[in-house]
Amino acid sequence: MSALLGRVQQAAGLLQKTSLLGQAGPAILYASARGFAAEAEAGGIPVEVHNEGGSKRVVVTKELPGERWLKLLTQADCRVEVSKHPEVITSKDTIKKLIGSQCDGVLGQLTEDWGSELFSALQKAGGSTYSNYAVGFNNVDVGAATESKVSVGNTPGVLTETTAELAVALTMAAARRVVEADSFMRAGKYEGWLPTLFVGALLQNKTVGIIGAGRIGAAYARMMSEGHKMDIVYYDPYPSKKLEEYMKGYGELLKSQGERPVTCTRVETMEEVFKAGDVVSLHCALDEKTKHLADKKMLGMMKEDAILINAARGPIHHEEDLVAHLKANPNFRCGLDVFEDEPHMKPGLADCANAVIVPHIASASQWTRSGMATLAAANIAGRLQDFPVWDKPDMLPFVDGPFDQIPKASPNILNAKDLGL
Ligand SMILES: NC(=O)c1ccc[n+]([C@@H]2O[C@H](COP(=O)([O-])OP(=O)(O)OC[C@H]3O[C@@H](n4cnc5c(N)ncnc54)[C@H](O)[C@@H]3O)[C@@H](O)[C@H]2O)c1
Repeated sequence: MSALLGRVQQAAGLLQKTSLLGQAGPAILYASARGFAAEAEAGGIPVEVHNEGGSKRVVVTKELPGERWLKLLTQADCRVEVSKHPEVITSKDTIKKLIGSQCDGVLGQLTEDWGSELFSALQKAGGSTYSNYAVGFNNVDVGAATESKVSVGNTPGVLTETTAELAVALTMAAARRVVEADSFMRAGKYEGWLPTLFVGALLQNKTVGIIGAGRIGAAYARMMSEGHKMDIVYYDPYPSKKLEEYMKGYGELLKSQGERPVTCTRVETMEEVFKAGDVVSLHCALDEKTKHLADKKMLGMMKEDAILINAARGPIHHEEDLVAHLKANPNFRCGLDVFEDEPHMKPGLADCANAVIVPHIASASQWTRSGMATLAAANIAGRLQDFPVWDKPDMLPFVDGPFDQIPKASPNILNAKDLGL
């Protein structure tokens, strides 16, 4: 790859060393997949530099999909430095080196620990804006950012359907034992059809329990109910009027066709959801109240052959308790996208055939991942140009449609009010 780049550089007559602004050391220009970029170093960390002459320096801690995000930043006169450090999870040390002594903004990842240490480093470097490449922000101490006068952006509105679809995929895979059956086939164990081979659970007309009927929880509820005529029972401190009305309308439609109408019930306690659900899916944010909510006690209330889904955040389930429950109840199943000690699994989980486990891919559709990049970049570009904060939940004007019609706004700033934005 580097030999190929070398040939591209020579053929284009671009092999040259340039002294760069800010933190980066000498650069070598080359043709990248997104036009010309420069290879350089920032605080000893390899970076790919775009729009070298930009007046504001923005650090991006991981390579991002799509091109729209980069165009947004470079058109906002930002010099963009994308870290090429090989570590999968960028450490605080690396981020501090990348920030260096002059940095206006950082676009970071949910796997990074954004607390007072990094926010004060960013503030000292003259920075005023951080954007998290995620809708969840449990990795960010928003209060510490506010103290450092740094705005915090996130990316709501483009993950909803994609994440809900993965939760549905996990539910179906767990109910119908798809992963176990796939491994069986690949191992050459299939010798012929049998009435007892990989018998699973029928979801039709059963009950789905939702913890947290926000954007994703409500989308998942709709998909499960419309797909399988399932009833919904949910717990959320706030009622989801939109979901309740939608389900009422769907129930009336079914009734008008002589079918059983589905129901949607908001209950007062989480216990009621865990008891009633043939499937229970967790869709709340991770905080002190939701940490370990699916523990031994709550799992013990579930039906013996129920299914637990977590596509929210790992620590919402108590993983050691879950492993013990899976082992003691072979007909109980779970589908996990997230893990308590990510990227690790608690001992014994990988041995449980009744668990479907995938590596935090719930938002991994092409459209969503590039949409997230666009929103995260627009949060930074908007702040650095002093644009207002977008005041609508609809994020499509940022991610779809013509580039020159992208709103002149930051899509979502979590501490906008506290910073007086
Ligand atoms: N696995 C992934 O890749 C992935 C992708 C996107 C989002 N997520 C996670 O999903 C979460 C939900 O995302 P969203 O966009 O639907 O957020 P949201 O804010 O729209 O929904 C969260 C809901 O949880 C409710 N809630 C708050 N406290 C609660 C409690 N104690 N018990 C029950 N419900 C409670 C809220 O009232 C809200 O309705 C995010 O916080 C994020 O952590 C994960």
